[in-house]
Amino acid sequence: MSFAERYGPWAVIAGASEGTGREFARQIAAQGLNCILIARREGPLKELAEQIRAESGVECVTASVDLAKPDAAEQIAAVAGDREVGLYVNNAGADPNGKRFLDNDLQNWVDLAQRNVMTTLKTAYLFAGPMRARGRGGVLLVNSGACYGGSSFMATYSASKAFDLCFAEGLWAELRNHGVDVLSLVLGQTDTPAYRTLLAEKGLPLPTNWASPVEVAKVGLAQLPHGPVYNWGQTNDVAGYAPNSPDQRRARVLMIEQHSRSTFGDD
Ligand SMILES: NC(=O)c1ccc[n+]([C@@H]2O[C@H](COP(=O)([O-])OP(=O)(O)OC[C@H]3O[C@@H](n4cnc5c(N)ncnc54)[C@H](OP(=O)(O)O)[C@@H]3O)[C@@H](O)[C@H]2O)c1
Repeated sequence: MSFAERYGPWAVIAGASEGTGREFARQIAAQGLNCILIARREGPLKELAEQIRAESGVECVTASVDLAKPDAAEQIAAVAGDREVGLYVNNAGADPNGKRFLDNDLQNWVDLAQRNVMTTLKTAYLFAGPMRARGRGGVLLVNSGACYGGSSFMATYSASKAFDLCFAEGLWAELRNHGVDVLSLVLGQTDTPAYRTLLAEKGLPLPTNWASPVEVAKVGLAQLPHGPVYNWGQTNDVAGYAPNSPDQRRARVLMIEQHSRSTFGDD
């Protein structure tokens, strides 16, 4: 199947207004998929939609939704309507705080957890159900190396990304026999406007070896059929900053799946 046959006719990109999300949208549209672009700022979304229509000739819908709001998934469902969504990319998810847990207002952490955990969970449920029924589709969750362990300044962020990692692995195991691909795309430092802003606020220099959003989107989409995990810049058998390589994690998920089948039964 072509990319469009496998993941079309509509894609939802959450966090599409800049950086990697913007590049995911452009590259997905270039493969012939219509796009639903979600972020908080309507201006950059509309500008991107115009660019995508001109570049790829596909349909584009934009919607300003704050993914940190408890009803964000319901808002996205209303925007998607009865369009057939075959690809869901969750890109939004960085930590703009750069603070220790107790040195920040609690609401900032609640918002971060709501966006990265509950909205991701609810939106995946919304789109993966019809994908499973159709026997095809893709769910790509953009993750961070922080998912592999906690550290100071990243307690809530890394915990939320650990959820996204385990969630993607479990979904991959449940959906892989139904034609639905699931990937946790684990990034290292990447040249995005949000990360540049954080570095500038902290007075830190720009990294010299960070990834480009164009490459991240390209590699991420290419890796989507090879889940559940891809660590940016590393091959499948290399652990890098992770306690296990993607190969080892995949083997572990499959091993536990055998046990789960004996406990919960086959689907
Ligand atoms: N940049 C890095 O070095 C790096 C490293 C590791 C992992 N990552 C991961 O890569 C992804 C992208 O990161 P990023 O650096 O581009 O920053 P980001 O803050 O996740 O921003 C990406 C996009 O998400 C949107 N967004 C953020 N919060 C939102 C909210 N509450 N509701 C709706 N949209 C929201 C932003 O648009 P609006 O502002 O218009 O809403 C933007 O379009 C994240 O998942 C992050 O964890 C990045």
